[in-house]
Amino acid sequence: ETPLIEVDAAKRLSKIDPMTYGGFTEHMGRCIYGGIYDPQSPLSDSNGFRKDVVEALRELDIPVIRYPGGNFCATYHWQDGIGPREKRPSRPELAWLGTETNQFGTDEFMAWLSVLSEGSPEGKRVEPYLCLNMGTGTLDEALAWVEYCNGTRDTYYANLRRANGHAEPYRVKYWALGNEVWGPWQIEQMTADDYAKKAAQWAKALRLLDPDLVLILCGQDGTASWDHTVLQACVPVVDMHSIHVYTAAGTSHVKNVTAPLAAERAIRIAASLIELARIERGVSVSRPPTKICFDEWNVWDPERAPGDKGAEEQYTLSDALAVAVWLNVFVRQSRYIGMANIAQTVNVISPLMTTQNGVVRQSTWWPLLLFSRYMRGWTVATHVRAGAYDGETQPAWLQGALEDGASWLDVSASVDEQGYVSLAVVNISDKEDFEVEVKGIAGKDVSVYTITAPQVTATNTESKEEVGMVEGMWNGEGPYKFPKHSFTMLRWKAQ
Ligand code: AHR
Repeated sequence: ETPLIEVDAAKRLSKIDPMTYGGFTEHMGRCIYGGIYDPQSPLSDSNGFRKDVVEALRELDIPVIRYPGGNFCATYHWQDGIGPREKRPSRPELAWLGTETNQFGTDEFMAWLSVLSEGSPEGKRVEPYLCLNMGTGTLDEALAWVEYCNGTRDTYYANLRRANGHAEPYRVKYWALGNEVWGPWQIEQMTADDYAKKAAQWAKALRLLDPDLVLILCGQDGTASWDHTVLQACVPVVDMHSIHVYTAAGTSHVKNVTAPLAAERAIRIAASLIELARIERGVSVSRPPTKICFDEWNVWDPERAPGDKGAEEQYTLSDALAVAVWLNVFVRQSRYIGMANIAQTVNVISPLMTTQNGVVRQSTWWPLLLFSRYMRGWTVATHVRAGAYDGETQPAWLQGALEDGASWLDVSASVDEQGYVSLAVVNISDKEDFEVEVKGIAGKDVSVYTITAPQVTATNTESKEEVGMVEGMWNGEGPYKFPKHSFTMLRWKAQ
């Protein structure tokens, strides 16, 4: 049978939240210092912000950026990072074992987001998303941070912000109740019960101060008993549930590109745990759905690129295809996703690297760019017939969990407000091209974007770009050949 892809553009399954294309900047390695902030560099503006980084990131149209961590949060005292720079303390940093100089803090982050937002065509701003210190931090400090950022009255921390030169409140809506509090590496790791009790109390107090906050619960990977326990306790008082997954499978290409399918299962399980908790806790169905905030995701092998050495991954074509599968997962599961944040945005496990001379767009930049640009609007139904991979997977349990294996063509599709259909197709095979009948697009003007390279090991560095994007047109007639180890986006007007 000829392989086939059918897209039913009239069958809208669920809205794709624009927040799916979020970023994350942590005080870790060269993300902040040397990535977004580098006052010594001739490439920086008068604020010390790297102009080339800002220009590149504007291409991604990022809706929200999480800050200041990650694990960094667990010992971060935000007041160290405000006021005159020469008075800010340097402190030992216990997540990544460096020294935090505090030269970049809340006001610099907000200023950087404003600069980044200047590029937005519709005057949209890049939303801040701040993560609270539930390690060594106190509730008092958390409340003070919210007051500093959002206070409009004549109160101490609102006035401190004004005294630091920021008359207008920052209106920070998104706040995380800690980060990976379940992890043994965490300063002040907690049991699920202890965390749940504390998170519920913090949520109550934070809402009394600012009822408009969107509060995000600290989950694990969506499938753990931690997720179950904290949701049962806190679902009535939070707005989203955060989960984290990183994938990697060494040099095994097919394992690498199918690994994100484990995250798809995690999303479905987390969504069920959320629904169950809402039912059991009597949350009214009229309350907005509690969505998943997938606020750390990416390809990362911490042994290959250790966190305390800056976690600078050099991504291959195979990793770019894994990122495309990751993004397909988010589009397919868009019903459940309220936000997702690639970890991270610059230098640290990132699609964008800085050098002294400029920026390097890694292989993973390209799928992210295409999804952020075109996979907007609604997820639509697809049907794919292309055979499936049913060999070993990473993690090993995934092989059994995939009912019919992993389709050789991993697909998602969307239709946007203007009626443009975008079809994202990853040919995960490193051996076979697929000639495919794409139903219903004969005679259309189809824009084609292809990301591939001769080898799955191809990479981009300062001196070579082996993985880029090729653009073309197709009239939709006859079968379309999706080359081995490639990502293709086809885009056409529905009517
Ligand atoms: O993104 C790197 C680290 O990975 C984050 O700090 C932490 O939350 C996760 O373990």
